Amino acid sequence: MKKKLVSLVLASVMGLGLLAGCGGGSSAPAAEEKTEETTEAPAEEAAEATAEAAGDADLATKKVGVCIYQFSDNFMTLFRTELENYLIAQGFAKENITIVDGANDQATQSGQIDSFISDKVDVLIINPVNSSSASTITDKVVAAGIPLVYINREPSPEEQQRWIDNNWDVCYVGCDARQSGTFQGEIIADLGLDAVDFNKNGKIDYIMIEGDPENVDAQYRTEFSIKALTDAGFEVNCLDDQVGMWDQVKGNELVNNALTKYGNDVEVVFCNNDAMALGALQAIQTAGRKVGTDIYLVGVDALTEVVEYVISGDITGTVFNNHFAQADGAADAAIRYLKGEDNEHNIQCDYTKVTTENAQEILDSLK
Ligand code: BGC
Repeated sequence: MKKKLVSLVLASVMGLGLLAGCGGGSSAPAAEEKTEETTEAPAEEAAEATAEAAGDADLATKKVGVCIYQFSDNFMTLFRTELENYLIAQGFAKENITIVDGANDQATQSGQIDSFISDKVDVLIINPVNSSSASTITDKVVAAGIPLVYINREPSPEEQQRWIDNNWDVCYVGCDARQSGTFQGEIIADLGLDAVDFNKNGKIDYIMIEGDPENVDAQYRTEFSIKALTDAGFEVNCLDDQVGMWDQVKGNELVNNALTKYGNDVEVVFCNNDAMALGALQAIQTAGRKVGTDIYLVGVDALTEVVEYVISGDITGTVFNNHFAQADGAADAAIRYLKGEDNEHNIQCDYTKVTTENAQEILDSLK
C-alpha cells in the first residue's frame, strides 16, 4: 500500500510590515503548519493507478510555458533545471515545455507572456521580473483562461487577496523568506557575543548586502536576520547596508568598499544570498581577513560551492533555499490545475539552516 505524506506550510500573508536597511525589526504573524496524510486501500490504489496512467498520457499533450526572470541567476538555474526534469518525470513531453529568459527586463517578459497566451499554452509558471507587475500579469493570464503558478518572487498580499476573492486558478509556491533571515541571525547568535564582538564595543557590528528589492526575499532576509539577533538580546550596529542585486560581482565590490571604509570594525557580513556571499568572501580574503578568526559571513541558498566553504570554515553558514521542493511544488500545483483541481493560493516550504554540523549532509543531498 502506498502512503503519501504531503506537508504544506500555509503562510499568513496578510498585513506584513516590511522594513529594510539599517533599521529595526518588527514582528510578523507566525506561519501555520498543516500536515495531510492519506492512505489508500489496494483496490482504490489499482483504480488510481489506471486513472494516473490516463492522467499521465494527458499531461504528455499539455503545453507548459515557464518564464524565468533571468537565466544568469545561479539559484534560478538550479530551480529551472529541477522544474524541467520534474515536469518530464511527471509525464510532460520535453518539446511541450518552453522555458524563456526574461533577461531581468519586465517588458521582455511581458512580451513572452503575450506569446505564450497566443500559443494557447495550457498552464503558465511565472517568476516575475517585477513583483509589482503581478496584477497586470494575472489579469491578462486569467482573461485568457490559463491557470497560473507564480514562483520565487512572491506577489503582494493585496494581489494574493484578489486570487482568493475571485477564486482564480492562480497561486504562489515558495519558501517563507522570514524563516531564512531568522536562520541567518540565529547562526550568528549561536556563536555568542564573546566570539563575535572582536572590537569589544558590546555590539554586533555588521554590514548587510541586499538582493533585488523586487523580490520580497531581500526585504525579509534583511529584516529578520537582524531581528533574530535583537530577539536573542544582542545589541546591533549597522555599519553599512547596500543593494547587491543578488549578484556576485556587485557583492564583491560592495564588501570591498565597506571593508576599506570600516576596516576591523566589521564583525559580520550578512548577504541575502550565496552568490553575493561568494563575492563577499573574495573581498574578505583580499582584505587579509579570515572568516571564523576575525570576521563572520553568512548567505542563503546553499549553493554547492558555498556548502563546501562552510565545511572548510571559509563561510560561517548558509540557509538551504530548497529549490527541489519549490520546483516540484510548482509543477504539482500546475498539474492539479490541469486536472481541474484546486490549489491553496499560497503554498510554502521550509528552509534549512546550514552550519558545519550538517553541511556534509546537505552537500550529499544536493548531489
Ligand atoms: C534567491 C536568490 C535569487 C533570487 C532570485 C532568491 O530566493 O535566494 O539567490 O537570486 O531568489 O529572485
